[in-house]
Amino acid sequence: MNLAVVLRGQTHDLALKNPVLTASGTFGYGLEYAPYGELKSLGGFVVKGISLTPRDGNPCPRVLETASGMLNSIGLQNDGAEDFCTRKLPLLPWRETAVIANMYACSVEEFARLAGRLDGEEGLAALEVNVSCPNVEQGGALFGQDARLAAAVTSAVRKAAPSKHIMVKLSPNVADIALIAKSVEEAGADSISCINTLLGMALDLRARRPALANVVGGLSGPAIKPVALRCVWQVARAVRIPVVGVGGIVTAVDALEFILAGASAVQVGTGNFMRPDCAFRLVERLPEACAEYGVASLDELRASLCCPTC
Ligand code: FUM
Repeated sequence: MNLAVVLRGQTHDLALKNPVLTASGTFGYGLEYAPYGELKSLGGFVVKGISLTPRDGNPCPRVLETASGMLNSIGLQNDGAEDFCTRKLPLLPWRETAVIANMYACSVEEFARLAGRLDGEEGLAALEVNVSCPNVEQGGALFGQDARLAAAVTSAVRKAAPSKHIMVKLSPNVADIALIAKSVEEAGADSISCINTLLGMALDLRARRPALANVVGGLSGPAIKPVALRCVWQVARAVRIPVVGVGGIVTAVDALEFILAGASAVQVGTGNFMRPDCAFRLVERLPEACAEYGVASLDELRASLCCPTC
């Protein structure tokens, strides 16, 4: 079965050999996972969030396992765009699979500068614009919770990176995700990925303190899959650009459910922490799962949801 997918954007398409990507912040810069599978077997991978200048992130503890999931408050720790472009990207198999840079900035102007820097990198197939991180005081989900700000960031990145497919990653921590999706589509996004993490909290009862140093963090993993499916379904009905589903995807059947909800591709995130070969296994098992569930093609599956309001 042909699993190749083309995310047809408004300005640039993104061709993937299969619909399985890995989610930013869960797969390092790719090479860390090379011992567990063939990177080139993936549809692509989204690297850890990159900012214009290096960031230390939030104080520890900043990761915690929860029931069927995980809380993180990393705070976008990274070595900055220059280090990524000159030292990390050249080592990645970008000729063989899509390498996507997740990008974060504190202001619209900084997003534009970062996009301009990344636009020149031949090795990047797309930019994923992070307007949804819940763990930073400036930017992050603040941009993604306001339709006008989300549109301003998208339009600035679109202008500054004319050669790239622009994917915008949305937050579930909003009243109406379809409204934000429409605003970034109008501002020039080529595709939308959703969802980023849900804002959560854990407590240490004995110490009577929050378990994370940052007090709150982003919840991910199988616990959030129903929320992610709902968001993908709502967004896919609201926009014409392709939607990439993220949130609790661990198995090939999970991936097919997201495609049925309207996604054109998926990202595996917390599953990579559960099993470092999770995304590789998912790719391997996809044809088998399609056969088991009578899926003739991914396009046929995406158009086939039967529900009272569809
Ligand atoms: O805190 C973090 O680095 C998480 C980033 C994100 O959720 O986008």
